[in-house]
Amino acid sequence: VRQQLYQHYIPWWENFPLYQHYQSFFNQNQWMNPPPPHVNPKHRIKPNETTEITHSPSALPTVEPTVIKYHEAYPGNYHFIIDNTEVCKNKTPSLVLLVPVAPNNVVARDAIRQTWGKENLVQGKVVITLFMLGLSGGSDAEQQEEKLKEENLQHHDLIQSDFMDTYRNLTIKTMVIMDWLATRCRTAAYAMKVDSDMFLNIDNLVIMLQKPDIPKVNYLTGLLMWNKPVIRSKKSKWYVPEEMYPDPEYPTYPLGMGYVFSNDLPEKFVEVSKSTRPFNIEDAYIGMCMKNLGLTPTSPPNSYQFQVYNPGYDRCEYSKIITYILDSPEELVKYWTDLKKPGPPC
Ligand SMILES: *[C@@H]1O[C@H](CO)[C@@H](O)[C@H](O)[C@H]1NC(C)=O
Ligand SMILES: *[C@@H]1O[C@H](CO)[C@@H](O)[C@H](O)[C@H]1NC(C)=O
Repeated sequence: VRQQLYQHYIPWWENFPLYQHYQSFFNQNQWMNPPPPHVNPKHRIKPNETTEITHSPSALPTVEPTVIKYHEAYPGNYHFIIDNTEVCKNKTPSLVLLVPVAPNNVVARDAIRQTWGKENLVQGKVVITLFMLGLSGGSDAEQQEEKLKEENLQHHDLIQSDFMDTYRNLTIKTMVIMDWLATRCRTAAYAMKVDSDMFLNIDNLVIMLQKPDIPKVNYLTGLLMWNKPVIRSKKSKWYVPEEMYPDPEYPTYPLGMGYVFSNDLPEKFVEVSKSTRPFNIEDAYIGMCMKNLGLTPTSPPNSYQFQVYNPGYDRCEYSKIITYILDSPEELVKYWTDLKKPGPPC
């Protein structure tokens, strides 16, 4: 069974090597200990690694510095193909989880549907999980699109927009998520953008959001990054040219693996994105939108709960945290099943 599963499984790091992205920041800034040695070496980036640059810098869109224009990141440029407008009409969720995922990554979606994505009443609160995709492209694009329509008929949990789903377009994906929340799910209280390779302790997240001192508006939290330098090495996957982002550092932003926000923010992000120069680092772009709105992200009540590196499963540990980045969908199912078995975790 395991082998069959893996035949069709495209490792997440081949679609979205976000782990490397995060790690590059950590290496550079050394604010965190290096990841433990048992992390799959495929997830590591060597200090001078030149990974899979698919677009030469000259192919990057250039933006005139002072001209405000409707640009890539403004989600009004894109159109929903699948939008499941009814999900938030039928109920008023306390929390909506939006998961950006590659169109062909059914295995990740199915693992989430079996685990944290299937929880629709958490601590008495309505929670909805939806997946955000762009266009698959490739030679079998039409077949792919048909498959997605069928998948949505079965699960009613896909949102698809008409931009090309590529690594460089992750900022577009995030902003289309914001557009969907602003126009199709305005009644939700909170939302979270959470990557498809995450372990999410959804109970702890809902408990956190119920704390009386959690703001109901202008609230953005997660694992905050302060004073992160912009990567100017053209060899790096996270290279951002000065024309796209002139400052040497990013504004404070929450790490893209999973950030939580009050649901008044999406429409503010969409509005401010009309005048916020786009660049291809989606989480830092959200930080920039916050800054342009005159807002700053807030540290979570307990920063320890937003974990990055998975040090190996420990039931007690996983019962206390909110996030961990995992290595495979199989791990997610395994850990989740174990965490949910009866008996005290610690
Ligand atoms: C990367 O680093 C190694 C050793 O640190 C060195 O031998 C190699 O030439 C470097 N490669 C590049 C492309 O800089
Ligand atoms: C991003 O999406 C747009 C719209 O579909 C497309 O024209 C562009 O080529 C994509 N960019 C990259 C770098 O994939």
